[in-house]
Amino acid sequence: MKSSKEIRQSFLDFFQSRAHAIVASAPIIIKDDPTLMFTNAGMNQFKDNFLGIKEPNALRIANTQKCLRVSGKHNDLEEVGHDTYHHTMFEMLGNWSFGDYYKREAIEWAWEYLTKSEGVNPEDLYATIFGGDEELGLGEDKEALEEWKKWLPEKRILRCGKKDNFWEMGDVGPCGPCSELHVDVRSPAEKEKVPGAQLVNMDHPQVIEVWNLVFMEFNKDSKGSLEQLPAKNVDTGMGLERLVMVLQGKTSNYDTDLFSPYIDFLEKEFGFQYGQNEEESVAIRVVIDHLRAVCFSIADGELPSNTGAGYVIRRILRRASRYAFQFLGITKPFIYNLVDVLVKVYDQIFPELAAQSEFIKTTIQQEEKSFLHTLARGTQLFENYLAENAGKADKQVEGKFAFKLYDTFGFPLDLTGLMAREKGWTLDVDGFNYQMGIQRDRARIASQIKTGDWVEVSPMEEFPHFTGYERSADKVHILRHRTSEANSGEIYQLVLDSTPFYPEGGGQVGDTGWLRKGDNIIQVLDTKKENDLIVHFVNELPSDASGTWVAEVDTDRRRLIKANHSATHLLHAALRQVLGTHVEQRGSLVNDKLLRFDFSHPTKLSPEEIMQIERIVNEKVAEGIKLVEHRDVPIAKAKEMGATALFGEKYGNTVRVIVFDSNYSIELCGGIHVDNTQEIRLFKIVSEGSVAAGIRRVEAYTSDGAFSFLSNKVEMMLQMKELLYNPKNPVKALRDLIDRQKKLEKKIQKLQQELAGGLKDDLLKQIKVVNGRNLLTAKVDTPSAKEMKALAFDLIRDLKNGVLVLAGNFGGKVNLIVALTKDLVKTGDLHAGDLVREIAEEVGGGGGGQVHFASAGGKNPAGIPAAFSKAEKLISK
Ligand code: SER
Repeated sequence: MKSSKEIRQSFLDFFQSRAHAIVASAPIIIKDDPTLMFTNAGMNQFKDNFLGIKEPNALRIANTQKCLRVSGKHNDLEEVGHDTYHHTMFEMLGNWSFGDYYKREAIEWAWEYLTKSEGVNPEDLYATIFGGDEELGLGEDKEALEEWKKWLPEKRILRCGKKDNFWEMGDVGPCGPCSELHVDVRSPAEKEKVPGAQLVNMDHPQVIEVWNLVFMEFNKDSKGSLEQLPAKNVDTGMGLERLVMVLQGKTSNYDTDLFSPYIDFLEKEFGFQYGQNEEESVAIRVVIDHLRAVCFSIADGELPSNTGAGYVIRRILRRASRYAFQFLGITKPFIYNLVDVLVKVYDQIFPELAAQSEFIKTTIQQEEKSFLHTLARGTQLFENYLAENAGKADKQVEGKFAFKLYDTFGFPLDLTGLMAREKGWTLDVDGFNYQMGIQRDRARIASQIKTGDWVEVSPMEEFPHFTGYERSADKVHILRHRTSEANSGEIYQLVLDSTPFYPEGGGQVGDTGWLRKGDNIIQVLDTKKENDLIVHFVNELPSDASGTWVAEVDTDRRRLIKANHSATHLLHAALRQVLGTHVEQRGSLVNDKLLRFDFSHPTKLSPEEIMQIERIVNEKVAEGIKLVEHRDVPIAKAKEMGATALFGEKYGNTVRVIVFDSNYSIELCGGIHVDNTQEIRLFKIVSEGSVAAGIRRVEAYTSDGAFSFLSNKVEMMLQMKELLYNPKNPVKALRDLIDRQKKLEKKIQKLQQELAGGLKDDLLKQIKVVNGRNLLTAKVDTPSAKEMKALAFDLIRDLKNGVLVLAGNFGGKVNLIVALTKDLVKTGDLHAGDLVREIAEEVGGGGGGQVHFASAGGKNPAGIPAAFSKAEKLISK
């Protein structure tokens, strides 16, 4: 039995021997296509080749591509785990022809590979062809039918509709009719009972599609019309996991050597028994599948986060955590334990996994920890809800609450339902669905960006190239434009025949500037890449786009961007020098204001380390090192030179290498740089912190930014010095001032205590005997009512058979307190609350309180003496 490694290799060898160039998998995370977050098909990286706007590197190509189907048109997430053949992450084996061979060869080779090279029993195979579609205006794919007839009896060739046999990458873009190969792996007895032909495309787990051959000949525009592509192409995709299942004679993908190592590990280390109980088995499959997706994504640079692709990764991991929690009884992080197993499964094939295994592990562990915490919080909230609603007659958990648990804490409906049932409650599912609908509508409206089709101004004869390394202004022609409608209004986009505008990429922001033709001036607000096409975002469309335009980059802004970018390289090298060679770049941002650099390092940088790094970079700036740029270097050669490739970046066969002193900094980089490091002028780190477990972030300024940062600081210091009366040593002066302040505060506190003691003694001397009772009335001068209250409690303790009446004037507001001693309270003759209410009338206010203590407010301080007299009168009665 062949191993999965051998099977993968046999596919590549088969097509290599048929003159296909073998290329690397593109990263699973897509950075330069606004319509797609993840690679969801092998053909993604060839989109521009199909559209005819970019020459392919070879006319025949084959590879294995890491794919993720979790969003957009191709989304298998909810199926995963419940069946044995859908995955979030999977490998797609593919062969491509760009206008070279077509249906005959594609079909013949697919047949030959499966039946002759790999020995699949031809009797187990079924082919489907596109049966035609009225709406698309296309008839049956007769050509494919004829080709399949060479290999298969006609009864095993099935005609299917648009849903199964017309492949589209997205709502717009390259598409075409397809033929699929399905394999029936059921037992002979079952085959006898129901013919396989009846089960094709019926979601039967053992009659499954393995290979899709797409005959990519159309492009679909935003109105849904098909236009013929410049060439007839082939795009095939075969799921490696399913192929391995077939070739290893299994009936579930999870029984192959691509999955069984994880199951063995879980059984051995955690005592689970896969296959014994359906719920547990589903959970194990979910955990393994999702672990693969998450590891591949992290390895290509996408960490779980709260937005965009990172959020999708977070949700996948949370789905796995939740299944483990709910069905495997796991309450501690555990999924991360499987990372080492995964690394072994893909040893030598995807080296980015082994190289980053520790980092991937800690990232997953941290994420699990925080999610389990969230789950616990949600459970608590659920229990609180039940306690608060204990009297609810229908004993039904409201849909709105279930939705809150779902939305905020990631609790799926069935988990809430389960918890409710355990407590003898039901759940308002309709109410939940209603809330869900509201949210979906909101999200749909928010994301409704409709991009129109390109309008051609002049034909694209050559793929537009970038001239910005040499020039910042150039003569250009507008090739095409389009309008997209976003919530914020209309945005216009242009493609030029060549451009000096740098498109956002490699951390560097896109250029801005102008396009001029005579009196016409269009502002370029941003520049981005869509796949490899450079798109300019402009403030308006010209009424006449034809003719020659001058494209002019805003060089003031670019000067600052360049300085920040080159400084990032100098910083990277300095970090490795000071902290160690474990420092690896994890992300960067370079714009005209600052540079930001994320890198792997376990601990906070000390002030000494930061100073040392700054010193090295500034030395390199002062040295005036000249930029040495090598273009079109084969990637292997670049690595030999000492440049490190970043995981998750898409590199062509050849790369650009940027060197600032070959003993100091060598990087693969497509960005714009200074010609000489002296142009950076000055480098200053302004912040250092953590962004994720094991990842630090440094932000720094250069050039004008660094100067103004420093001069602001100096200005602030001078002002402070002046306030301190210009001491020689301002730090010492400030420290002395703080010490003095502390001492003074202590002294004041002491004095206040003494004062309060003295005050008390003075007051006690003023006691009058009225009607056989001790009465003390006094206007006090405490800082606020709070201290007056404390004083009242203090005084009343020292009185016997007495009544205390205190008054204070706090900024025009009167505060009165009446307190009775305990022995007086016992007699029941007087009530502090009644007393205070009556005397408060004299100060224009009111109040009340308990028998022994009461207070009142008033707004007439002049009435205080009258209030005291009234108190005396009341007591005399
Ligand atoms: N693009 C097709 C698919 O993804 C064939 O590779 O199925």
